[in-house]
Amino acid sequence: MKDLADIGLIGLAVMGENLVLNMESKGFTVAVFNRSTEKVDKFIEGRGAGKKFIGTHSIEELVGALETPRKVMMLVKAGDPVDHFIDQIIPHLEPGDIIIDGGNSYYEDTIRRTKYVESKGFKFIGTGVSGGEIGALRGPSMMPGGSKEAWPEVKEIFQAISAKVDGGVPCCDWVGADGAGHYVKMIHNGIEYGDMQIINEAYQFMKDVLKMSYDEMHATFKKWNEEELDSYLIEITADIMAYKDTDGEPMVEKILDTAGQKGTGKWTGIDAMHLGVPLTLIAESVFSRFLSAQKDLRVEASKVFKPTEVKFDGDKAKMLDDLKMALYGAKIISYAQGYNLLMEASKAYNWELNYGDIALMWRGGCIIRSAFLGDIKKAFDKSPGLPHLLLDSFFKEKVEAAQQGWRNVCATAVMNGIPVPTISSALCYFDGFKTERLPANLLQAQRDYFGAHTYERIDKPRGEFFHTNWTGEGADTVSTAYNS
Ligand code: 6PG
Repeated sequence: MKDLADIGLIGLAVMGENLVLNMESKGFTVAVFNRSTEKVDKFIEGRGAGKKFIGTHSIEELVGALETPRKVMMLVKAGDPVDHFIDQIIPHLEPGDIIIDGGNSYYEDTIRRTKYVESKGFKFIGTGVSGGEIGALRGPSMMPGGSKEAWPEVKEIFQAISAKVDGGVPCCDWVGADGAGHYVKMIHNGIEYGDMQIINEAYQFMKDVLKMSYDEMHATFKKWNEEELDSYLIEITADIMAYKDTDGEPMVEKILDTAGQKGTGKWTGIDAMHLGVPLTLIAESVFSRFLSAQKDLRVEASKVFKPTEVKFDGDKAKMLDDLKMALYGAKIISYAQGYNLLMEASKAYNWELNYGDIALMWRGGCIIRSAFLGDIKKAFDKSPGLPHLLLDSFFKEKVEAAQQGWRNVCATAVMNGIPVPTISSALCYFDGFKTERLPANLLQAQRDYFGAHTYERIDKPRGEFFHTNWTGEGADTVSTAYNS
């Protein structure tokens, strides 16, 4: 074992432990530190025993145990703990040393921290790490951004420990300046929320409309995982359907129907609002979690309102095929919207994101990994300037082919009182997206009617604004025509 470590890690919770074991298994020597130092000793004597680890009991000792340029990675709770450790690490660094934040930090914090650490003469990386505890151990997807000069220093370690696809391509590459890595991880999580919610809606539809048993649902998800929907989340859903509690009943039936969240999906929705991007599917999936959490209110309402009688006597196999198409169509919309947001963010925050590379980083290791991301990569390889995923010929054809079944599922769900907020709002988005003339002409008229907010005319150049005195009582003064 070398005297000095290749990298140091702060935070020996489950992700941290697994990530350092992954690093060590790839030949790196790792120094480790944890705020409660008993954890360090426990790790060194336990899972880390006989391996290339240096256990340390203070930040000073951790930094002192590293080869230069020093790389100190934190896997601690997002928020104040990150700032706290940065301030503790900085006094022990020398110019050129690198601080890495591998938690789910908010990208604006990462922008601020990059500036701060660089102002002190050091480098900063904020990296998304996805894949849960197993991913951390066997190969996560990694999305690093921050001080670009730091990338060559960490590239070897990051790409060695990351997941690989297509015979060895690492699911890790440089994303962009300051908060770009954490932003891309945030979008990943938003898409994760969306993917989970569309699967949840399909589950309720199978259970309550098609009256399928857990064994049937298990078989269906398993089959879907071998087709277009092939993905980690469909795979684990198939497993969950088959998992029985000790009494032989499906485990999932015993779980309270109130969803938790740590906030990354909400951040995605908020940023879409800031940037004016119609990110309807992810937003609906966040709202669905909120509605699920209002359990007491729902219980109350379920007593007040008679349940809608479910009547389905159609062809079950055909409806299941339609349901698969509904999921596939909604998934295409979700990724198209997510990429739309990435494109707007890239412009707004000056990141020059590479959309094909991002699809590749998500192709393996992470929670949203799927065959589908390979198709997205191909779309951007074919046309790097593609303005919207739905305009790619492959996705255009697929979404059109999904339409009929998808509409059928939405109509059946609505008629039977089964909530499908993401699957149906995705269809509404699609219908809006391909509509040349939306009713916003009326909306502009209404705004102008009550507030003199002005409008543009179809027979005049864009950028010229008009006002009508709709009632004959208003004045000619117009409100300023700024747009939020
Ligand atoms: C990942 C996950 C992970 C996140 C959970 C929790 O990529 O490995 O996204 O980063 O912690 O998914 O998310 P919620 O608690 O918000 O559902």
